[in-house]
Amino acid sequence: MAHLIQTLQDRLAAAIERVAGAEHAGTDPLLRPSAQPRFGDYQANVAMSLGKAIGTPPRKLAEAIVTAVSWDDVCEKVEVAGPGFINFTFRTAFLDEQLAGMAADPRLGVAAAASPQTVVVDYSSPNVAKQMHIGHLRSTIIGDAIARVLEHLGHRVIRQNHIGDWGTQFGMLIEYLAQSGQEAGDELKVADLEQLYRAAQQRYEADETFAARARRRVVDLQAGEPTAVKLWKALVEESKRHFAGVYRRLGVLLGDEDVRGESFYNEMLPQVVRDLEALGLLHESEGARVLYPPGFRNAESEPLGMIVRKRDGGYLYATTDLAAARYRIATLGADRLIYVTDSRQNQHFAMLFAALREAGWAPAGVRLEHVPFGMVLGKDRRPLKTRSGRNVRLDEVLDEAVERADRIIARKNPDLAGPQRREVAEAIGIGALKYADLSGQRIKDYIFDWDQMLAFDGNTAPYLQNAYVRVRSIFRKGEIDPRTLPAGAIGIAQPSERDLALRLLQFPAIVAAVADSLEPHRLCGFLYDLATAYHRFYENCPVLSAGEPALRNSRLVLCDLTARVLAGGLELLGIGTVEQM
Ligand code: ARG
Repeated sequence: MAHLIQTLQDRLAAAIERVAGAEHAGTDPLLRPSAQPRFGDYQANVAMSLGKAIGTPPRKLAEAIVTAVSWDDVCEKVEVAGPGFINFTFRTAFLDEQLAGMAADPRLGVAAAASPQTVVVDYSSPNVAKQMHIGHLRSTIIGDAIARVLEHLGHRVIRQNHIGDWGTQFGMLIEYLAQSGQEAGDELKVADLEQLYRAAQQRYEADETFAARARRRVVDLQAGEPTAVKLWKALVEESKRHFAGVYRRLGVLLGDEDVRGESFYNEMLPQVVRDLEALGLLHESEGARVLYPPGFRNAESEPLGMIVRKRDGGYLYATTDLAAARYRIATLGADRLIYVTDSRQNQHFAMLFAALREAGWAPAGVRLEHVPFGMVLGKDRRPLKTRSGRNVRLDEVLDEAVERADRIIARKNPDLAGPQRREVAEAIGIGALKYADLSGQRIKDYIFDWDQMLAFDGNTAPYLQNAYVRVRSIFRKGEIDPRTLPAGAIGIAQPSERDLALRLLQFPAIVAAVADSLEPHRLCGFLYDLATAYHRFYENCPVLSAGEPALRNSRLVLCDLTARVLAGGLELLGIGTVEQM
């Protein structure tokens, strides 16, 4: 069954085709929920823009669109207003029918994509031998939500954790480990990788003999010398264990099998350079080989280049990304490449994409998307740091989120205790943290504020989780199993029921919009509006005490649908729900 917005859109497309000709059939009808009830449920603004394009007065065009097709089965009223707005008011019976269809559908009206794609989502991608910090949190959480949404729509999602597991910094780490008695082949004996990194770096800067030996280790590692390789592997394994612990705690769907670090592409790099060379795309600059993708200029208006091989023969981050993208398209069969990193890498990806097109490695049909996001700031609006000035560590942040949630629950619901309270605290604390990352426009910096993210009011995870708990408590109180409700029992009577119904029916279109725009905040905003509509409905419409059985049943189905959409929407964001809190 086509969802409600799709139904209107299809019919508008047919009407536009009839009135303006086939070449305009694909015009966006600019359909929006109406801002005010007196303008109906939805409005289409297409007549203004299309009228201008084809030289017909918008009002006249709007009227022609309205009379071109029949709306009777869907709308009780279709009106032209103002300069050429088309206002739609649905027939209540049509809404009832749509809701019944949604209630009977385990997918809640979200249809699987007609032509599923293979989508590679590159996210999290922290660096080996460094702790994951708060900056990696955003990529992990946003990327995971995007991957979940695409997967739910039936696409084949390939998660790629492009960890930084290669580079000259491993020379000093290997040398430092060797000197501190680490045996090749043993499991790593360091508790804190960040400390190891700092210590090795200090030594490297202070001690010339150490530095020389460290550089020697880089050559060894590249040549596959066994001791260097074993120590490097031990570092990578230890880091992966650390990352996996954080992922498990966060409830993100990244496993060991999704790790494909930079080192994986090492052996492809010489070929990448040779192929670019053969295409005539590389130029010489002070001994380095450089690619100048069309359209990029620096502040002095000189062509901006991407170095793919350094003068000393070394390769760079960009070379690896060229190899990785080519691999993802040619070998993994990707139709769409998505990269989730902070916005400081905007230029890197813009140049990478241009280079991939120019080389013909990304055919026109393959969609290339960078999903940038802003920084995490402290309340002082400066990059978040601890009091001692170091980067905030992710495992400490997770602990604090759960502890704070636990204190709030202890206060709000003293009856909840033991392992159950722990479970609830985990869901609320981690959920609040993730939601704070997802609910704002991702491109903006966001201010890390515990009180705000854990508030039970406003656009927060606890507010939504609590709305879910409140709906579910109706069924507990009434001793009703929602699965026994007659799904077709819906009959909307009150305005606040109608509002709630219109919200619920938006769900499929919102999920589709997130998959297209890769903006999870749209789903957050929708869930928040849904919870708000539900509270208004609940204030105005008695449910368990509705009297008449038909009315009571209808309202119970609305309640159940609300709970399912809230839980389903939160799940797409990677956030859990609880039955009590
Ligand atoms: N490791 C990189 C960093 O921490 C992110 C990698 C993103 N993915 C990519 N294919 N470049 O900045």
